[in-house]
Amino acid sequence: MQLLDGKFLSKQIKQEIATEVAQIRERGGKIPHLVAILVGNLGRSETYVSSKMKNCEEIGMKSTLIRFDDTVSEAELLAKVEEVNNNPDMDGLIVQLPLPAHISADKVMETIHPAKDVDGFHPINIGRMAKGLPAYVSATPQGILEMLKRYEIETAGKHCVVVGRSQIVGLPMSILMQRNTYPGNCTVTLTHSRTQNLAEITRTADILVAALGKPEFITADMVKEGAVVIDVGLETVPDPTKKSGFALKGDVKFDEVAPKTSFITPVPGGVGLMTICSLMQNTIKAAQGEIYS
Ligand code: GUN
Repeated sequence: MQLLDGKFLSKQIKQEIATEVAQIRERGGKIPHLVAILVGNLGRSETYVSSKMKNCEEIGMKSTLIRFDDTVSEAELLAKVEEVNNNPDMDGLIVQLPLPAHISADKVMETIHPAKDVDGFHPINIGRMAKGLPAYVSATPQGILEMLKRYEIETAGKHCVVVGRSQIVGLPMSILMQRNTYPGNCTVTLTHSRTQNLAEITRTADILVAALGKPEFITADMVKEGAVVIDVGLETVPDPTKKSGFALKGDVKFDEVAPKTSFITPVPGGVGLMTICSLMQNTIKAAQGEIYS
């Protein structure tokens, strides 16, 4: 068993990005600028967004956080998105999800200009990604692909089983892994909450992507000997043995699953750190006009 070490990889990638940004600065190019909109103050979203902003600063990119109360109207939020769309200094825009129930996330995603949609959530980017055209790809699946690539994991002809069909991870992951490229060329099965005989299917996975958001759901009996296991989950669960009173868990019961695998991502220290790197890479692409020129 080998760990897919997100901590190590993300450090390496951050260094690469920092060098790229420094080179842009040297030649007097546009310093990439990421804008995040955060509505309300959900603990998890606060953590994610502040980590995104902090990482941007660390590698020499510009970042701006725009906050709204969770009582903000949809119209007011959409107007802010338009304002960012029209600001040439702002290259990438993310609106942190989830949004309050009175705001349509779909409407917000569709209002972000596709050329600034560094989360890759706009239907145009999802469609272009599905067709294999240049597109912004959702940061978590992109981070997973980068991991597979850097650990030189073979994917062609393998059975990739994705558990969870979220628009952010499961759906794009399933599309990316079937593409005729590397990483890709997998036979993909996308499973979800209505899937029958789930364990039977996951047991046939050469590459198993767990992205359903249920702590320690994937147990050893659901995993084939020698499988590559990617754990996208990150949940806090009560743990009286910890000083803080809680522990971070993934969707995979790590202790019992890990010994069966060829490669596995730890939680924390796995996929999550890769996500932020992808987002910064997308923001650089946006500043350079690489996808939409
Ligand atoms: N909420 C959870 N993950 C994400 C993400 O990747 N982007 C945004 N905007 N919101 C999220």
